Amino acid sequence: MFKRFRRLRMNSHLRNLVTQTKITKDDFIYPLFIKEGQGIKKEVGSMPGVFQMSIDEILKECDSLKKLGIFSIIIFGIPDTKDSIGSDALCEHGVIASSLKKIKETHPDMFVVTDLCFCEYTDHGHCGIIDTQNQSVDNDKTLDILVTQAIIHAKSGADMIAPSGMMDGMITALRKGLDGAGYSNLPIMSYSTKFSSAYYGPFRDVAESAPSFGDRRTYQMNPANRNEAIEESLADETEGADILMVKPALAYLDIIRDIKNSSRLPLAVYNVSGEYAMLKAAATAGVIDYDKVMMETMLAFKRAGADIIITYHAKEVAKILDEMR
Ligand code: PBG
Ligand code: ZN
Repeated sequence: MFKRFRRLRMNSHLRNLVTQTKITKDDFIYPLFIKEGQGIKKEVGSMPGVFQMSIDEILKECDSLKKLGIFSIIIFGIPDTKDSIGSDALCEHGVIASSLKKIKETHPDMFVVTDLCFCEYTDHGHCGIIDTQNQSVDNDKTLDILVTQAIIHAKSGADMIAPSGMMDGMITALRKGLDGAGYSNLPIMSYSTKFSSAYYGPFRDVAESAPSFGDRRTYQMNPANRNEAIEESLADETEGADILMVKPALAYLDIIRDIKNSSRLPLAVYNVSGEYAMLKAAATAGVIDYDKVMMETMLAFKRAGADIIITYHAKEVAKILDEMR
């Protein structure tokens, strides 16, 4: 009997030799939520295992991440006071700027990415300055404050910035602003293809960033549009982005592959809060083997074309990779 396919599956060493897609700890970025204050470590109901932490707890968390072999983080801020323009994000003593300095002082070997946006800092919860005429985000006014925010992050020690607000022209504006301020070596990982997704729900609980009116459909993408998804990322490449991103990840594997085939830049995917919450809920309900489903999901991202995976599962994945050795 001719057994073309099964021949290579009969021995575990052979299976390993012919494994096409491999997951390593180097692939991961772990998100952290920094709450202003001291002694705070608060789990948020919709995302078991994810905490709002004050900076003292964040520094301890960095220790445990390094022990697990995870050296890259992306940080989000939760300030005590919010206003219409997100002033906390525009000030060198704001929650991200001050925390970033402390992280880089005590953990210079951590690679710290900062999320660049305003929804966590504005009292209305939108990703920029509101144009009161049409109750939507004013693109160009937001670009101006984004550049200010980026320069503050750069000065405070960010290793990479990740603009997530989906403003048109944001990469051109940021690259120009950063280069002009002497930060031409600072890379930009753009949330280049970011959909207006219901999968962000749990994140907005943790980051306290749900919009107080309307939704984000005038700036984030329509999940139905495949061509536009590719164009969005290619435009950011042209504008000077160093790394592209697709977000969310699991419901958009086709888009990940499309963009991988259309660009030679490194590609990140954001395995978002709702995707994480679904696996946790399924595990709690006892209907899946959580570890196996999680690892299979990570593999799917890489197979689809992801070079980098931003995920709340990163610590759990690292533990499993250790057990597998
Ligand atoms: C902010 C931002 C969001 C996420 C990352 N950065 C949420 C949003 O657009 O409301 C979502 C991440 C997640 O769901 O895990 N612009
Ligand atoms: Zn935002």
